[in-house]
Amino acid sequence: MLIRNFIGGKWVNAKGEKTFSSLNPADIRLTVAEAPLSEQEDVDLAVGAARDALAKWRLMPAPRRGEILFRAGGLLIREKQRVGELVTEEMGKVLAEGLGDVQEAIDMAFYMAGEGRRMQGETVPSELPDKDCKSFREPLGVVALITPWNFPTAIPAWKIFSALICGNTVVFKPSSDTPACAAALVQILEDAGVPPGVLNMVCGSGADVGEYLVTHPLVDAVSFTGSCAAGERLEGLLGRMHRPLATEMGGKNAIIIMDDADLSLALEGVLWGAFGTSGQRCTAASRVVVHEKIFDTFGEMLANAAAGLRLGNGLHKTTDVGPLVNEQQYKKVLDYIQVGIDEGAKLVTGGRGVSVGGSVNGFFIEPTVFTHVTPTMRIAQEEIFGPVVSIIKCVNLDEAIKIVNDVPFGLSSAIYSRDVNTTARAERDLKTGIVYVNASTIGAEIQMPFGGWRHSGSGHPEAGGRGGALDFYSRMKVVYRDYSGRLQKAQIDK
Ligand code: UN1
Repeated sequence: MLIRNFIGGKWVNAKGEKTFSSLNPADIRLTVAEAPLSEQEDVDLAVGAARDALAKWRLMPAPRRGEILFRAGGLLIREKQRVGELVTEEMGKVLAEGLGDVQEAIDMAFYMAGEGRRMQGETVPSELPDKDCKSFREPLGVVALITPWNFPTAIPAWKIFSALICGNTVVFKPSSDTPACAAALVQILEDAGVPPGVLNMVCGSGADVGEYLVTHPLVDAVSFTGSCAAGERLEGLLGRMHRPLATEMGGKNAIIIMDDADLSLALEGVLWGAFGTSGQRCTAASRVVVHEKIFDTFGEMLANAAAGLRLGNGLHKTTDVGPLVNEQQYKKVLDYIQVGIDEGAKLVTGGRGVSVGGSVNGFFIEPTVFTHVTPTMRIAQEEIFGPVVSIIKCVNLDEAIKIVNDVPFGLSSAIYSRDVNTTARAERDLKTGIVYVNASTIGAEIQMPFGGWRHSGSGHPEAGGRGGALDFYSRMKVVYRDYSGRLQKAQIDK
């Protein structure tokens, strides 16, 4: 499949005519797509197109913009199977999750389409007669969106739909691991009627074009989801420019399992949270903090269940866990497994990179469980982003909460207990943007804000709800209208 950039409503090659390959991580002999290896000139064209399109797009009534997103949602439903399979082929997650990825984009399309008819500001009484005060939302301008490969349609949809409904125009730089999924989404938006120049896509490397794009003088705001290292670099660069930046940068999410928990329910939650998407979610459960009374029992249950998961190509029905996305991630995760062993954690199952069917064509790592992990070990502190979970012992709820909170990240956490007093305390005291009760650390729904605290993100959440993405992609303008026909002085006239 040949992918092109999308600039000013046209699908075009990179000016330099160079390309790169996107490979199937379950079998790297298969090329999923050739995509343009863009350079700065391509970015200039895309930003220019977005600038030109802004004047008209920002004035299109938001409900009309919403109708376009509504149509995009319909097209995504029609194309769900095809795009879901493409997600699996291009980044490896099992098909049920590939389809879930597209479903999240569908949900987001309809939600943001509806926002076109809401997008509230406020009207409040003035302290003076014959005067009113109101606020309304205005777009920021041209926004640059940098997205990762782990949710190759959902995360671009979070950002693009939110940006568009608010009246911004967009330059979108998808991950180099998933350009085909990105192009499929952009094609659907074109078919839905997004006008030329309103949405532009430039493929290429973060170092070559990503950084140039986000610091481009004609860009007004940036939203980034990806690694901490890259996000923190952007914070430095854009902070100096006073340019609004939203970051989502990962987590070290934990599940607490108390001694009164339903252990089989908790086990399902840990398996799903730790090994879904092969652990490559920002919200993946990478620590399980288990009450000492059930520590051995639960450790055994988890080790046995993890050992029974089947690795393979995500398109095959028998597969539970797909490959890692690329060689770099594969090596990084194997390095972390070695770090865990060297630190003295007990490896109870998994731990190896394996070739499926006797070939070495994919990046598969066995679901891996460490027990007897202490809270300060590196495998308990640093984000691994792979199918590796660490079990840590606790003596009571207070200690469990302290362990969960004592990491640099704060995206999601969970607690399993049948005691409402216990779970209520956890809801109150866990320092993460998302807390789950009797459910795993993954599975956020789009009608609520999605965002992490501290090193997990900048505090500008994605998606819907109060405090969600609209607050980032629009800014409030306040208008005072005086129809008294005379000079009135706030704070002074009494
Ligand atoms: C991510 O891992 O980057 O809650 C996003 C979830 C998904 C979104 C995850 N709805 O796991």
